[in-house]
Amino acid sequence: MSTTATPILSVENLTFSFSKERQILKQVSFSIPKGSFTLLVGPNGSGKSLLLRVLKGLLQPSAGTIVLEGVDVTGHPKQRMQAIGLVFQDADTQIVGQTVEKDIRFGMENLNLPKEVQNTRLEETLSLMDLHPMRNQRPRTLSGGEKRRLSVAGVLVMDPKLLILDEPFANLDYRSVVSVLSTLLHLQQEGHTIVLVSHEVDKTLAHADQVLVLEHGTLAEEGSPESVLPRLTEHGIYLPSNPIIEELSWLKR
Ligand SMILES: Nc1ncnc2c1ncn2[C@@H]1O[C@H](COP(=O)(O)OP(=O)(O)OP(=O)(O)O)[C@@H](O)[C@H]1O
Ligand SMILES: [Mg+2]
Repeated sequence: MSTTATPILSVENLTFSFSKERQILKQVSFSIPKGSFTLLVGPNGSGKSLLLRVLKGLLQPSAGTIVLEGVDVTGHPKQRMQAIGLVFQDADTQIVGQTVEKDIRFGMENLNLPKEVQNTRLEETLSLMDLHPMRNQRPRTLSGGEKRRLSVAGVLVMDPKLLILDEPFANLDYRSVVSVLSTLLHLQQEGHTIVLVSHEVDKTLAHADQVLVLEHGTLAEEGSPESVLPRLTEHGIYLPSNPIIEELSWLKR
């Protein structure tokens, strides 16, 4: 990966607070190279989901800058909204359509994309997320794992510059974790840029290009999986055993 190319996203001294007394994000700085797979980890309440909402443009930072492909978009939440696809931690909140197919079409229809483009993208996404058999099913009758795949599909179909997933493995069984993670790695191979927030550090770490560790709203560590691994426990992130990085590379690229 070239480090000289303009990153998809870079963030400098990002700060966010709901009130004067309670700063949730404190001077967070990092950048996301184009085509990279970034893993964002941190204990419960460290500010991960909040950071994603600020990036996406759902909340405005109190200070700091957000730069998208070299352009300062801090004051332009709408541009961030369009460029960044965010799959929320609570998958259910994102599902709006009467059927799986209608739900995937929803965002494309809002953008008034030509019908042929919509149809092509719909079929591609149904295949990629393994949702063909359920295309006419009501979303609320889907299993937890299928709902999760639908929420990813609805975001993916919009072809965002940056795809961010907040805890996509919550409540998934082992096979579904493998399937979602494989799909993400496949998407990366196709050129997508991905940020993944996950507590399943043992499963995801070795597959990331870079790891960001958030603790109490501060970026505590940043680097390759190898360099970050030995310091995770210092920041309240525990792995089941004391693994070496090779043992964690369980999913072949
Ligand atoms: N609307 C709000 N008003 C006040 N405090 C909030 C609000 N939303 C979030 N917070 C607080 O901000 C902190 C960070 O929350 P956030 O959801 O970002 O944590 P997280 O790192 O995603 O945790 P988890 O791993 O549990 O998902 C928490 O202490 C939370 O209580
Ligand atoms: Mg969260």
